[in-house]
Amino acid sequence: MSTRKPTPDTPANRRKDGRSPDGDVLDTMKRPLRDLRISVTDRCNFRCPYCMPKEVFGRDYKFLKRGEILTFEEIRRLARVFAAGGVKKLRLTGGEPTLRRDLPTLIEMLSDIQGIEDLTLTTNGSLLKNMAGDLKAAGLDRVTVSLDSLNDAVFREMNDVDFPVQRVLDGIQAAAEVGLTPIKVNMVVKKGVNEGDVLEMARRFRGTGHIVRFIEYMDVGTSNGWRMDDVVAAKEIVAAIDAEFPLEALDPQYKGEVANRWGYRDGAGEIGVIASVSQPFCGDCTRARLSADGQLYTCLFAVIGHDLRKLVRGEESDEEIGEFLDSLWSRRKDRYSELRASQTESGDGKVEMSYIGG
Ligand code: GTP
Ligand code: 5AD
Ligand code: SF4
Ligand code: SF4
Repeated sequence: MSTRKPTPDTPANRRKDGRSPDGDVLDTMKRPLRDLRISVTDRCNFRCPYCMPKEVFGRDYKFLKRGEILTFEEIRRLARVFAAGGVKKLRLTGGEPTLRRDLPTLIEMLSDIQGIEDLTLTTNGSLLKNMAGDLKAAGLDRVTVSLDSLNDAVFREMNDVDFPVQRVLDGIQAAAEVGLTPIKVNMVVKKGVNEGDVLEMARRFRGTGHIVRFIEYMDVGTSNGWRMDDVVAAKEIVAAIDAEFPLEALDPQYKGEVANRWGYRDGAGEIGVIASVSQPFCGDCTRARLSADGQLYTCLFAVIGHDLRKLVRGEESDEEIGEFLDSLWSRRKDRYSELRASQTESGDGKVEMSYIGG
């Protein structure tokens, strides 16, 4: 996890060229680029209705073809350019990243990039039991596992491919045994579907060292039929847990941390709540997302990507790609979640979560 302390942004330290005191390019809201999320495949073996509903992602769905997705060499080259531009953290996502063939090889290729302090992965955990050892050996620091319910029937329904919850729990255990820690467990809470499982989730992981993060259901993409009524506000989740296990607010671990942290007063560890709908956190957003086919998105809710594949497959040098990124970032204005409430357009054309990786 990042331990880096940036130089304070005081008038005396501020540079004339619009960069941060450390020389990083800042966007129009003075946010540096620190965190790159790399989707390595748009495919997934689950069909969670809020992400890849079967009606849309069926047999006829046109997933990316092999030649369209970035090769490991292309990903490494881009990651190096990003690291030279100030990125400290890489997160591999999907779809389901463990479906990408030879994933540990890619991790090994990313693990020694200068400047990267945190190399992690978000997975549904289905293949983790057998892969955890190889991922760790390749240089992965930790994993985040998506798990929406501990109730087997609810879980099978939520992944919509009848996948048993025990296999994911076995994956989490395997990851813990090989030291892919601290493990975070992401639960998207959807009203009327799994809100009743919140307490059980807190109970199960208290005292294990794993950190459960309860996520407000978001309007990503256009195919999940999101409605505000489906959202359970973070405040309600915290209140429900606090009533059984008293909680206290904890300070963020780094500027721009997505989750609000809460500690159990009895010392049994912590939870996080990700309140992207009720308390948007765009003001500190230092994240960019690279799709499996090399499109760069500067917001989770973006409509337009920027084609980096064309650059890595073209004549451009690393320096030229770096300059392109600096120029793109310096013009960035994204703050979708903060504007959501006043949104007048329909948001048509937003990219899907399974394409951009959450
Ligand atoms: P840590 O590095 O462990 O702190 O993880 P993280 O919180 O950066 O990452 P994770 O991928 O686990 O994010 C959890 C969830 O928060 C995602 O699946 C999204 O649902 C949501 N989220 C993450 N980043 C953003 C963002 O930039 N904007 C919005 N609106 N939601 C986000
Ligand atoms: N709202 C909030 N989180 C979501 N995820 C996927 N779709 C949504 C959504 N609509 C989460 C997954 C996983 C991560 C990649 O994103 O559960 O934890
Ligand atoms: Fe797959 Fe994760 Fe999307 Fe579920 S939320 S369909 S596990 S990518
Ligand atoms: Fe960042 Fe966009 Fe999420 Fe706001 S909505 S936090 S700008 S990714």
